Amino acid sequence: MAMYGQPDLREVIFALEGDGMASQKLRDFLESINGKFDFTTEDMRRMVQSFHLEMGNGLSGRKSSLKMLPAFVDRATGKEKGHFVALDLGGTNFRVIQVELDGRGHARVNHTGKFVIPNAVMRGTGTQLFNFIAQSIEKFILRYEIELEKKSKLGFTFSFPIDQKNIVSGILINWTKGFTATGVIGANVVKLLEEAIRKYGLENIQVAALANDTVGALAAKSYEDPDCDVGIIFGTGTNACYREKTANILKLKNPVSGHMIVNTEWGNYSKIKSNEYDDKLDRATNNPGRQRMEKMISGMYLGEVARLVLSDMIRSKFIFAGCKARFSKGNFKTRHMALVESDKSKDLIKIEGYLEGLGILDTTHEDRALLKGVCRTISRRAARISAAAISSVVTWMDPKLRAKHTVAIDGTLYEKYPNFRRTIVAALRELHGDAAKRTKLTQVKDGSGIGVAVVAAVASRGKSRSV
Ligand code: BGC
Repeated sequence: MAMYGQPDLREVIFALEGDGMASQKLRDFLESINGKFDFTTEDMRRMVQSFHLEMGNGLSGRKSSLKMLPAFVDRATGKEKGHFVALDLGGTNFRVIQVELDGRGHARVNHTGKFVIPNAVMRGTGTQLFNFIAQSIEKFILRYEIELEKKSKLGFTFSFPIDQKNIVSGILINWTKGFTATGVIGANVVKLLEEAIRKYGLENIQVAALANDTVGALAAKSYEDPDCDVGIIFGTGTNACYREKTANILKLKNPVSGHMIVNTEWGNYSKIKSNEYDDKLDRATNNPGRQRMEKMISGMYLGEVARLVLSDMIRSKFIFAGCKARFSKGNFKTRHMALVESDKSKDLIKIEGYLEGLGILDTTHEDRALLKGVCRTISRRAARISAAAISSVVTWMDPKLRAKHTVAIDGTLYEKYPNFRRTIVAALRELHGDAAKRTKLTQVKDGSGIGVAVVAAVASRGKSRSV
């Protein structure tokens, strides 16, 4: 069935049959790919049930693929106020941001500094990584001539699983997204940051909050929208947090009444049936067996899943048979999939141009339609798994979806990937009918910057500092 004007493989098969062009072998292959990446309504429903079991286990401290990490902060009230420096570590860039909160639900980003993290630093030692961070803060301060007051408050967005006992410290549980810096797992990342900034003479800075990027997204949106109770990232990696009753977080030692944000670390959810391409991709990563859902959804991996399928097709001469084509590992990125899927022209000329740029000349219309169909099949599964995950989190809080929920979403995949959002919305309708309308998916820009400033402000008011 054609989905929302975008062909998936079944539509391509149909078109090829119409032209009498497809060989039986190709048709069988496409059917099998379609089956391997199908994620039916029934699959989504089953996933919601199993996700709930995993959430419950994680909250109680039992074995679970969902870590369910308490964030030691509640959402914002909109009244938070002040100037903050925010750090954002978690993707290919490290960012330093100066943020001003006016106490009336408005946040202003005054300055942003973006620093590309060299591969050697990402995969070197922890000391190198934190020195790089401190050095970048120093550059930022000098570039914008920022006067640091005594005890300038800093919020640190650290987009990896951290075990927190309070808002100003956290122990790295494991790296994700290709980071492997040594000596950080098991250490308190705030301490590592403080040691590094002291070396660079930045003693005036005081770390006021440590938060995951999902928590930042939720905090940033809730600063202006009191219905916001979920924060999600669909970017290089994927994850979600939500607002939980502290009484439900059974693993907390001394729970006080009220609410707290919980970071699910859903990228590690492991109960989705994988196919041979998922398994092959997983084996080639530096964290095999981990982040299995992330590897089916997020920007760091989707392109590679598609490349593995395409490589099989090239080998069997189902695609690009008349041309010299090879996609080597890491060459086909998620942004290339997005470009391919964005081509709405009849002759698929954008795709043709892209392939020519790679030296793949003389492609046929069939080649290009197949390429687009493969991308669509894989991104569609990603969006439907995402929808099931969103549904799981929202129905955990509100089984019948009676209340309004604003879901704050940040990340390039959500922002830029053609039809990703639409496919999620359609799948949520498939699951919940009209009730899905009360769950509003909104994009939040710069959640990691503004959000962690809001978290620092909430924490500075003495709320939820530690439980
Ligand atoms: C990390 C999460 C993070 C997500 C999005 C995942 O790989 O484990 O902590 O929130 O990426 O950046």
